[in-house]
Amino acid sequence: MKIKKCLFPVAGYGTRFLPATKSMPKEMLPVVNKPIVQYGVEEAVEAGLTDMAFITGRGKRAITDHFDISYELENEIAGTSKEAYLTGIRELMNKTTFTYTRQKQMMGLGHAILCGESLIGNDPFAVVLADDLCLNEGDDGVLTQMVKLYNQFRCSIVAIMEVPEDQINKYGVIEGEALRDDLYRVTNMVEKPNADEAPSNLAVIGRYILTPDIFDILRNTKPGKNGEIQLTDALLEQAKNGCVMAYKFRGQRFDCGSVEGFVKATNYCFENIYLKEQTNK
Ligand code: G1P
Repeated sequence: MKIKKCLFPVAGYGTRFLPATKSMPKEMLPVVNKPIVQYGVEEAVEAGLTDMAFITGRGKRAITDHFDISYELENEIAGTSKEAYLTGIRELMNKTTFTYTRQKQMMGLGHAILCGESLIGNDPFAVVLADDLCLNEGDDGVLTQMVKLYNQFRCSIVAIMEVPEDQINKYGVIEGEALRDDLYRVTNMVEKPNADEAPSNLAVIGRYILTPDIFDILRNTKPGKNGEIQLTDALLEQAKNGCVMAYKFRGQRFDCGSVEGFVKATNYCFENIYLKEQTNK
């Protein structure tokens, strides 16, 4: 079974970016000239995924509109040099379908994923948390690397990276049995532990491949850390069957949910992508 679907939980409020996100979805903040969420969709398309499924919420309509025709604007610039600015997004739209459902109440990432069941069905699927901007210039993107691993192991896979001690309490943290330098079979997982209780310094970042049995597990997952239904807790349950892998990906990752990470991503994309595209024109 080839993975075709990618779930984007985008219902979160983006409080760390207030006031910018008071009336605008955080996923629409531009990193140079593209909204954050478009980078995520591009990464999914590069990995061969074609069905983009969004878990949205109130106040997120700009995302739906972004992946649709903007009739008046496009009519206005048709035949002018400005049309070139839309080439990338038009190509994305031609290669993909977009479906949307709303998460009516914010009850955690696990709950958001469960809201996506009707869009995903009984297939394995990818998850992209768009706040985590992943780039790997000149090499496979992070999701491409993970889809290749899935084709080999047919298990759920979480992307991980080493983080400094003072950052550990922001992430899901894994413990695992090393299969290779960059791959672990997960034996334990804790959501946002204190550094002194964390099983390792290997933090989960926002890229997952999930097998669809996760939905049944999520349905029975009780609220955990911060009273939310945690994907981490459901993955720990799934890991009891030995079929959750953790993969140390190749590439850069920016935490665009924080102002600091967002500015770093902007500088990186300006230097390494935007300026290069301008000189190649
Ligand atoms: C979520 C997950 C956490 C993961 C993180 C990656 O947390 O719950 O396990 O490490 O994404 O960005 P959030 O950042 O949404 O609080």
